[in-house]
Amino acid sequence: MILPILAYGDPILRKKGKEIDESYPDLDILLENMFETMYQSLGIGLAAPQIGLPIRLFIVDATPFEDDDTLSEEERKFLSTFKQVFINAKIINEYDDEWAFNEGCLSIPDIREDVFRNATIKIEFQDENFKKHVKEFNGIAARIIQHEYDHIEGVLFTDKLSPLKRRLLKGKLDNISKGKIDVDYRMRFPKASKKRHVK
Ligand code: CO
Repeated sequence: MILPILAYGDPILRKKGKEIDESYPDLDILLENMFETMYQSLGIGLAAPQIGLPIRLFIVDATPFEDDDTLSEEERKFLSTFKQVFINAKIINEYDDEWAFNEGCLSIPDIREDVFRNATIKIEFQDENFKKHVKEFNGIAARIIQHEYDHIEGVLFTDKLSPLKRRLLKGKLDNISKGKIDVDYRMRFPKASKKRHVK
């Protein structure tokens, strides 16, 4: 089932996600719906708050980068199989030089900006079977995880921009909250004016 993606301005996107455990109901169905929703909107990552659930869960599928010939052979090879569920993730460390990557977000359509983040992260998380992992990621993989991890912390990539840049984007962001934007996937806008039903 394709779920509506919450747009910028929705208070749920600002909540710090709560941990979940094995008793979380119908997790397999939720994951199936999240992957379907992400693929339909051509995303490479999706966090639970974006579909209205303030829990510590996000998914990543970076396999489309397999065809990105601006990347090294080694990175393409890694990304070609990088599909992962992250539950109760905790970034333990972020290191190596910051680099700029042009980020976008399904909750903030039509805005892309360069964001600086550390190149490498060490993260612990549980997979869909609640098996624990501690792994190191770098490059694009780290970048996607950092972006999605921010979502479960209530942070959006626009928060990372300079005050000037944020000021310049304010009008566009307000329009997104109000639904004054064309999007070809299902979204829910927090400040959209209710349609009047006239008989
Ligand atoms: Co996002």
